[in-house]
Amino acid sequence: MVTSFKKYQEEYQKSIITPIDFWDHQAQHFVWRRKWDKVLNYDFHKPEVQWFIGGKLNITENCIDRHLPSRAHQTAILWESNDPAEPSRRITYQELAKEVNRVANMLKAHGVFKGDRVCIYMPMVPETAFAILACARIGAVHSVVFAGFSAGSLADRINDCGCKVVLTADGAFRGDKKIELKSIVDEALKNCPSVKTCVVLNRTKLNVTMRAGRDFWWHDQIKTASDFCVAEEMDSEDLLFILYTSGSTGKPKGMVHTCGGYMVYTNYTFKNVFQYKEGQTFWCTADVGWITGHSYILYGPLSAGATTLMFEGVPSWPDMGRFWHVVEKHKVNIFYTAPTAIRSLEKAPLSFVEKYDLSSLQVLGSVGEPINEEAWHWYDKNIGKGKCPIVDTWWQTETGGIMISPLAGITKTKPAFATLPLPGVQPAIMDESGRELTGNLCEGRLAIKFPWPSMARTIYGDHQRFKDTYFSTFPGRYFTGDGCKRDEDGYYRITGRVDDIIIVSGHNLGTAEIESAIDEHSAVCESAVVGFPHDVKGQGVYAFVVTYDPVHEEGHLRNEIKDVVSKIIGPIAKPDKIQFVSGLPKTRSGKIMRRILRKIAEGDVSNLGDTTTLLDPAVVDEIKRGAM
Ligand code: PRX
Repeated sequence: MVTSFKKYQEEYQKSIITPIDFWDHQAQHFVWRRKWDKVLNYDFHKPEVQWFIGGKLNITENCIDRHLPSRAHQTAILWESNDPAEPSRRITYQELAKEVNRVANMLKAHGVFKGDRVCIYMPMVPETAFAILACARIGAVHSVVFAGFSAGSLADRINDCGCKVVLTADGAFRGDKKIELKSIVDEALKNCPSVKTCVVLNRTKLNVTMRAGRDFWWHDQIKTASDFCVAEEMDSEDLLFILYTSGSTGKPKGMVHTCGGYMVYTNYTFKNVFQYKEGQTFWCTADVGWITGHSYILYGPLSAGATTLMFEGVPSWPDMGRFWHVVEKHKVNIFYTAPTAIRSLEKAPLSFVEKYDLSSLQVLGSVGEPINEEAWHWYDKNIGKGKCPIVDTWWQTETGGIMISPLAGITKTKPAFATLPLPGVQPAIMDESGRELTGNLCEGRLAIKFPWPSMARTIYGDHQRFKDTYFSTFPGRYFTGDGCKRDEDGYYRITGRVDDIIIVSGHNLGTAEIESAIDEHSAVCESAVVGFPHDVKGQGVYAFVVTYDPVHEEGHLRNEIKDVVSKIIGPIAKPDKIQFVSGLPKTRSGKIMRRILRKIAEGDVSNLGDTTTLLDPAVVDEIKRGAM
């Protein structure tokens, strides 16, 4: 483990000069059924990347079994309910082993074997963690879909990778709401021919319809399942999971992650970034439906033998002090959340924080979007009491693990800077013409020059799209889609997406996907969606909508459009602002000039740049006048 800044510098140098030796050494700390023959094969032009070639392992033996001799009775998963009155659950490593094996055997009984895809559409309960690890145990590929997505989005994801089984629950608690998960699954499964089985956990006691022959209750199935299951032997490069992320065009991309490299890298980054120490309680507030949950609620902490807290609820219920209540109750030592949560909690009276004893906290983290300086200072002062280092961690679904980040207490931090690359990570800032910018002070697009073990290997079923999206902008390099500045100290500051993805409350949304949902409304002729600065969500969704006929009741139509988007994608994608316009600014070749719409949405209409190439420049004045 890196324990000083000097060591970080040495380790970084080593990892760049001799990356093979560096990762060979890191990978020794795990249980392998067979050691790898070669550390790395790669060609960023194809692109092709393989790590720990020929190595055989099972990630659950590393996350569970190997801990049993020393920490069978230590809590592995500490679960906190949505409802503060419901008792917490502590699942020891021993219990985790049994529960995972039971679910693994339940899956096997339904004909799930190595390589089969299993969709997990579940609430934040321990059974979801068991399900994910159970898939890994038997070599099935999990595809977790965030339980806030609509039936249509769920069906698209199930069909894209041909899932055989869906694991779900009757419903999910979210603050004072109950989400009817099973009925969303029922709707989705009308269009999912590959799904033969659906297993339903009883969480909310909602009335659900069970289809004979397809639907089974979890508690019935688990009763007869043995708690012993031999872990499947996996190749380093066998698929571990698929996780969908929005694209700037077209449907979501099923990012493929494989076993060996992902395990090594999530473990390394968990321990080093958070400077995890034996016995600490770690809480990552993400949902397991996102990569942050995969890597830093489950695989990273469990492979390190940590106690990981899993929280079912939301920060605002029963009141804005809930996070801080949980920190006090469970004496959380490391707390990792998203800027959007910090900003919303910052708006609540400070009494919600001051009521609780936060003295257990030692390290704070941030992830998912740029953290503004104000939120950073609020977090530092009021939550960390000026004594907890903040790690602003930059990474992506595609990168599998944290890439640019301070090491807690080791790297000197600067508000809003992700600071320095982790060992093994070779960033490059590129200009528009594809040249690498050298020297410290510069700004451009962020690319990565050399492979790291947890990088996505492909987009499921569409390798060409993988190449086009990530390896074609700067041939021979991985393009992140993010803008980035480097300051006089060589520190990196991520400035945001440079493509048509917007990050709303930490969730990636493709503008094209929202537009096609809006266009489904029968009154809508066409639409264009851009992001705009939002003081809590980071960015909000701004839709410019052209209707076939003049709009009489704008408020009514706005609500209908929001409902359509919510139904097609999910509530997270609902536009915050909808402006009805008679036309969109287009070039003579028919391309929408998003640059202009972005400026208008940002409220910056003074300098819209050159509009002379537009087909109808008058439309811009009309849009400016009606801007919201
Ligand atoms: O734009 C960057 C932003 O989130 C994107 C990745 O989103 P996703 O795949 O959903 O993964 C989020 C959790 C890892 C990035 O391309 N992003 C993530 N972390 C940061 C960030 N932007 C600025 N600072 C960060 N710390």
